[in-house]
Amino acid sequence: MYTNLIISLVIITFSYWFTLQMRNKHFSYNALLDLQRVLFPLKYIVLDELGGVLVTNVIYELARLEIADIIKSQGGKMNICVIAKITGTDEDKLNCLLCFAMSKGFFHILDNGVYANNSISLALKQMTSFAKSHNGLEFYEWLSLPENKGRQEIFSKAINEQDSSSEKGLNQDYDWSQYCNTTFVDFASGIGSYLFQLMTHYPAMKGVLYELPSVIEMSEKLWSINHKQLLNRVQFVRADFFINPPPPADIYFLRSILHNWPDEKAIEILKTVRSAISLTNVNSETTSYFKPKLLIAERIIDDNTPSIIYQVDIMMMFMANGKERTKPEIEKLLDKSGWKFTKITSCRGGFSVIEAVPI
Ligand SMILES: C[S@@+](CC[C@H](N)C(=O)[O-])C[C@H]1O[C@@H](n2cnc3c(N)ncnc32)[C@H](O)[C@@H]1O
Ligand SMILES: *[C@@H]1O[C@H](CO)[C@@H](O)[C@H](O)[C@H]1NC(C)=O
Ligand SMILES: *[C@@H]1O[C@H](CO)[C@@H](O)[C@H](O)[C@H]1NC(C)=O
Repeated sequence: MYTNLIISLVIITFSYWFTLQMRNKHFSYNALLDLQRVLFPLKYIVLDELGGVLVTNVIYELARLEIADIIKSQGGKMNICVIAKITGTDEDKLNCLLCFAMSKGFFHILDNGVYANNSISLALKQMTSFAKSHNGLEFYEWLSLPENKGRQEIFSKAINEQDSSSEKGLNQDYDWSQYCNTTFVDFASGIGSYLFQLMTHYPAMKGVLYELPSVIEMSEKLWSINHKQLLNRVQFVRADFFINPPPPADIYFLRSILHNWPDEKAIEILKTVRSAISLTNVNSETTSYFKPKLLIAERIIDDNTPSIIYQVDIMMMFMANGKERTKPEIEKLLDKSGWKFTKITSCRGGFSVIEAVPI
């Protein structure tokens, strides 16, 4: 019963989100087909994962409330009314979650509403709900397994489609022409759909696709078929953004990257980008007299944030321990990773572009 409810909720959320995403699009038969294409694979992905991911949605909530730790700190067992008081939650609702978790092997119940930890509940901390249901692999690790090649392709294309409505605002409301002569790194580019548009528009721009090896492999194939004319200006870089700095360049563009990660990981990623820039010799390494700049495109949370962004936020938390952030939250990440915030431009469609320079 509970599982069904969650399943329906997630499917409705996803469909609603995508319907809204598509609504900005010029309405045409093609848009309908697009919608179908977008919905089908995502539903497929969601349905495919229901067994694991949705069940652990509840587990995630319990982990967030640190219930396993609270019980453990009190000698391993605790009455539900005390747990509710400590966590500031409603006793009945919490009990409902705990019963459900128990049916999946987390915790066990003693007499009189006393819950006790077990080895499974003790493992609750520090893992996304996704990883808990996928042998400890996080989403992108899992996606790059050889057996998920098909899913990887579907996912990359879905990300493209999903962004295409807000892309209009991003295209039109931010001045990209200032970068027409630069070397432009699309950092964790996916298949580089945004870079492709920029490079097509600006014939002097040099592009870098920086991605996980499995995604680069796919991109090289796609670009050599669809964007042949750009191949002499583009470089494909296989990398892991927790390890390999991107090549020296003028612009480092991170779209929809940070929201996939919790703060400490986001800081690591920003440090990796920062490590590509040596301040003493900034200009000679690059193709133009351009001071290297970081561009972050994300959906920023502010007073006017529509409910839909919060829905994405919940999905991010659930899949990746990630989050949509406010401007001060992004600034804080920048401060901790060697960057200084300089400018924010909000665009129609939901994206904002945040600019930062190395310090
Ligand atoms: C939400 S997608 C955004 C793609 C692209 N920037 C866009 O806006 O369309 C996040 C990307 O991060 C990549 N990624 C995840 N972990 C990575 C890692 N450790 N190193 C490099 N890229 C990674 C994924 O392959 C995925 O394409
Ligand atoms: C539950 O936590 C207590 C306190 O840390 C510990 O002594 C006990 O071994 C744990 N129970 C299990 C089954 O792991
Ligand atoms: C780009 O380079 C061209 C040719 O050198 C130059 O005329 C133009 O002003 C440059 N544009 C920018 C924005 O730097």
